Amino acid sequence: SRFSEPHRPQFHFTPEANWMNDPNGMFHLNGEYHLFYQYYPDSTVWGPMHWGHAVSEDLVRWKHLPVALAPDSLGYIFSGSAVVDHRNSSGFSQDSTPPIVAAFTHHDPVGEQAGTDDFQVQSLAYSVDKGYTWTKYDGNPVLPNDTGIRDFRDPKIIWNPQTEQWIMTLAVYDRVKFYGSPDLKNWQYLSEFGIEGDTRLWECPDLFPMRVSDSRDYKWVLIVSIQQEGPNGGTGTSYFVGDFDGTNFLADPGQQQWLDYGADNYAFVTWDNAPATWGRRLGIGWMSNWQYAQQVPTATWRSAMTVPRVLELQGEAGAYHLIAKPVPSLAGLRGEATPLDSVITQSKIVNGNFDPSMADLDLVVDLQETTASVFGITLSNAQGEQVEIAIDRINGLMRVDRTQSGPKGFSEDFFKRPHDAPLNTSRATLDLRLLFDVASVEIFGNRGALNFTDIYFPSSPYSQMEIWARDGELHLSEGMVYAMNSIWE
Ligand code: FRU
Repeated sequence: SRFSEPHRPQFHFTPEANWMNDPNGMFHLNGEYHLFYQYYPDSTVWGPMHWGHAVSEDLVRWKHLPVALAPDSLGYIFSGSAVVDHRNSSGFSQDSTPPIVAAFTHHDPVGEQAGTDDFQVQSLAYSVDKGYTWTKYDGNPVLPNDTGIRDFRDPKIIWNPQTEQWIMTLAVYDRVKFYGSPDLKNWQYLSEFGIEGDTRLWECPDLFPMRVSDSRDYKWVLIVSIQQEGPNGGTGTSYFVGDFDGTNFLADPGQQQWLDYGADNYAFVTWDNAPATWGRRLGIGWMSNWQYAQQVPTATWRSAMTVPRVLELQGEAGAYHLIAKPVPSLAGLRGEATPLDSVITQSKIVNGNFDPSMADLDLVVDLQETTASVFGITLSNAQGEQVEIAIDRINGLMRVDRTQSGPKGFSEDFFKRPHDAPLNTSRATLDLRLLFDVASVEIFGNRGALNFTDIYFPSSPYSQMEIWARDGELHLSEGMVYAMNSIWE
């Protein structure tokens, strides 16, 4: 049947065929969630970029749509965003339908080859049929590059109600620059934000306000993807929390934080105009890593998106953290439930009416009763390939080991070492949600405080799930494995 090739995720978005990277231009309108993505329709490796397109009513089941934007005389269509222009500030609509306006980077490969420094510029396209068909603006580019800095891309636009203007956040090499506009066509430089002395390449920024949970305060969050030295090697998504006065972003004192500790969540950005409850924000990431994205062993397509996640800002002055959870609608794919034993010593194979390669686990560990120093879950197949998720209770650490997850050879970096993340194990309980989908695991710990995403490629699907405890007992106050239905059936 359709979408049953080896390694094809069954409840994550993938293109029907060929190359995909970053999510782009997501917006919501009238119950429809649109998703665009960096797409090369002629090959399974990166090439002249288009915007692929899909739509969903529930953020779970996706319908593939025709390519929305294709390269033109100004170049390839790189990453960017889209906004619903409710007031028709752009004047692109001729009637009462609000135009959807997409901002993207035109990347001119000829200029790049020639060694110029202005081959990345910002352009617009618009839709007057609720996002289904697109026209490029005839005044492109709307923001040429006079910075002398070659990396000048990935415009993310929001409406700032406080200053009543559009704000564009742009990745400019090792920092972001902010621009303001009344109409999306005319842009004025506002300010920049970076970290003194840190020259890693920034990409795919996203700036937005968020109410702090259980509080009347709100803060601004600036997401930036980082091209090197991600939390477990290669590329990764980070964020800052701070304040934005309409012109300048001022980060709170403290560290740049990781949005996800796994190796495979890059270019995570958020939806425009989503009907989420005040204080929450909806986003999605590219479930791969530039270290090996073009080498992973899928035959007809490359890459999947993460599951859409709901962001929330928690904490108090001086220490705010984003937490992220899978969209609630995902639970609608759950099938039969298999309860786990409440006490596990050594190792137990989990038998039930579910496919171990495709499952949704919900656990609450009783850390007061648990005596095991390390416990975890392992998926494996008859070839002896496995992915192991271990919680080190003593050291407050989670470790995902995919070093034996499948045939090696496509990438050294992929198999180099287990991936670690700090995990608070000093509370009375630890809740864990794990989503396994053929070629990936996404882990949400401590109510979304820890996000961890890793991909893997076994030679045959994992057919066994084991739950285990070392040097003592693992006590679960809750534990359920749900079978997951495919979105493609
Ligand atoms: C991030 C990125 C963006 C760029 C796009 C090109 O993965 O490098 O900065 O716009 O991919 O496909």
